[in-house]
Amino acid sequence: MSITINKSSLFISFEGIEGAGKSSQITHLQTELEVSGYQVTLVREPGGTTFGEKLRSAILDSSTPLHPLAEAYLFASARAQLLDQVILPALAEEKNVVICDRYLDSSIAYQGVARGLGPQTIMDIHSYPPLSTMPHLTIYLQISLPTSLQRMEQRGQKKDYFESEQQDFFARLIDGYQQALKMAPTRVIPIDGEQSEEAVRLQIQSEVWKRLKISKQEVS
Ligand code: TYD
Repeated sequence: MSITINKSSLFISFEGIEGAGKSSQITHLQTELEVSGYQVTLVREPGGTTFGEKLRSAILDSSTPLHPLAEAYLFASARAQLLDQVILPALAEEKNVVICDRYLDSSIAYQGVARGLGPQTIMDIHSYPPLSTMPHLTIYLQISLPTSLQRMEQRGQKKDYFESEQQDFFARLIDGYQQALKMAPTRVIPIDGEQSEEAVRLQIQSEVWKRLKISKQEVS
């Protein structure tokens, strides 16, 4: 079944390596959009559906290393289900902004580059609907490797499947995101995640408002 995306709706994804600050910025954006009269559909990847959450545990709690292609297809399966059940129906509605915590560019960076499958393999997996659905805007919160390692250390939480990787994996991730950026320079907007939380918030707001074509006066 094909769904038409409503012209007043917007699909935004957030990307970045561990510790980039996605969660706080997503919360800020959600509040600002709701205050401005938008309905916000917030989802995270992998997950967001009952099936997707099962796949999330299958991957992130895995005690054995998965083949990179197995990882790529598991993420893609969860994504296809999320698009069909949640994202596309939400985008068909009026003034609905879907905010997705990670999406395709995570697969490009993590499985395509850091795991070595190649970005094109990931794009090929995403060549059929609903997986061919691209966000209108992707906010890439850019931080350095030392900042990422320091923030992970400060959190002090138990490390999951990817967080337990060695430093060279995280260095390859940064390269992976650079490649994703080059592949879609008008969709993926890099924002310096080392600035103050407030400076980052304002830059994100400006990028989103541009795409929603609303002015500052309508916001507050
Ligand atoms: P999560 O706890 O949501 O991480 P974060 O808080 O950093 O967003 O775990 C998701 C993990 O899955 C994260 O390490 C990135 C990884 N991932 C991929 O490797 N490929 C993908 O396509 C997606 C969506 C996530």
